[in-house]
Amino acid sequence: MGKAFDVGIDVLAGGSTAGTAPARASDMEPAMQGSGDSAGAAKSFYIETFGCQMNAHDSERVAGVLLARGYRAATTAAEADLMLYNTCSIREKAAQKVFSRLGEYRYAPKGKVIGVLGCLAQQEGEEIFERAPWVSLVCGSASYRKLPELVEQLESGGRRVMGLDLDTDETFETEITRRDNPFRAYLTIIEGCNYACSYCVVPHTRGPERSRHSDAVLSEARRLAEAGYKEIQLLGQTVNSYRDPSARGLNFAALLREVAAIDGIRRVRFTTSHPNDFTREIVEAIDDTPELCEHIHLPVQSGSTPILRAMRRTYTREEYLQKISWLRGARKDFSLTTDVIVGFPGETEADFEETITLLDTVGYDGVFSFMYSPRPNTSASSLVGAVPEEGKKRRLAILQERQRQIQLCRNETLIGREFEVLVDSHHAARGQWAGRTASNRVVNFVSERENLLGEFVFVKVTRAGPNSLVGEQIS
Ligand code: 5AD
Ligand code: SF4
Repeated sequence: MGKAFDVGIDVLAGGSTAGTAPARASDMEPAMQGSGDSAGAAKSFYIETFGCQMNAHDSERVAGVLLARGYRAATTAAEADLMLYNTCSIREKAAQKVFSRLGEYRYAPKGKVIGVLGCLAQQEGEEIFERAPWVSLVCGSASYRKLPELVEQLESGGRRVMGLDLDTDETFETEITRRDNPFRAYLTIIEGCNYACSYCVVPHTRGPERSRHSDAVLSEARRLAEAGYKEIQLLGQTVNSYRDPSARGLNFAALLREVAAIDGIRRVRFTTSHPNDFTREIVEAIDDTPELCEHIHLPVQSGSTPILRAMRRTYTREEYLQKISWLRGARKDFSLTTDVIVGFPGETEADFEETITLLDTVGYDGVFSFMYSPRPNTSASSLVGAVPEEGKKRRLAILQERQRQIQLCRNETLIGREFEVLVDSHHAARGQWAGRTASNRVVNFVSERENLLGEFVFVKVTRAGPNSLVGEQIS
């Protein structure tokens, strides 16, 4: 199983699908945005995105802002006048990758503007200008509303322009968002994070939690439905702690029901949920509402209560398992995925064993697993009891192998079952289509039909691997 960031769930694919939307993993291949027409004299931009789905969607919104300012999307990074990197700093490897990428622009042609956006920008700030003096724009996600002004400063000759405020109580509303996937639209409902997990840079890089007004969320969802989107994915670092700041005061479960009721929307997903804010009401809303998809990504991080305490996760193993039991008791057959960190400071073999038994107990359909990586501005970075790299690697390998077996067993029980699949890609060489079930499982299948992209079809599962299913179209 791959590795990932706190938001998102494109977990189950393994590598078996072709050409789907940007996945969520922070170590995924960067998603490229450009591909517009190259006519006209307008300045052009290109965005390369690292990291999670929040970042992927932020890039879509930044693209919207630039298009509204008269920029056009460049076809390649090489030809762009403005080259933006939307970055991730969740683990050290992710941050290193950005710097090595930036290194490629050391000798960028005169007049080409290089900008760094996102979490690394917020974390490193001015340091970026020191490490990569050819960069002239540094802007964190909480300051994207100011991007037009910042770009204006650059256009009028500014050399080093920064937007790093975190003290914003507004969210990043855009007039236009350029969406890259024609079937599934991301919609951010809450930004930032009010938790303080001891290993995590996000509260530092994305700032405090800010929920969007429900009116703004619902009108955007209606526009998406009118534009033909069938699936909406609500995004937030802790999406389920949503609390409508308007007088209506909707909680997350109520908002889910309202988004699902919009005409034309066939599927609603959301990510990432925090266990602490995960309520029975959410399970009931999903159970009651056909459009709400039966997949929950609920990061556990560790199966050991003492380690959870050291991580400041605010729940125990037992409290987490209690929430899992609500899901297992639901009418819908939920699929569950999670994130796990191995080798957190002080993690003993016995603690690690608790994580393994938790995987067995829950029966996840996907796990994003990571070796602990100390990060600047986090309280865990000063903890004693570091687990040596070799030990972390060994634990990660054991965990991934166990999880692979769990997934294979679970998927094999699905042989013979029929699922409705939203088709999102075609693999021409294999003559296969691929899509996702409501439970977010990837199904590859063959069909007599010519073009199925964006269609809902029923597929009967004939074979199962650890990361995806194979089937035949039945209608
Ligand atoms: N080291 C390793 N993994 C981390 N994550 C977050 N911070 C760290 C870190 N410092 C993982 C968590 C989180 C996911 C997005 O990334 O599992 O849920
Ligand atoms: Fe990071 Fe914890 Fe907030 Fe998730 S809940 S973004 S892990 S601080």
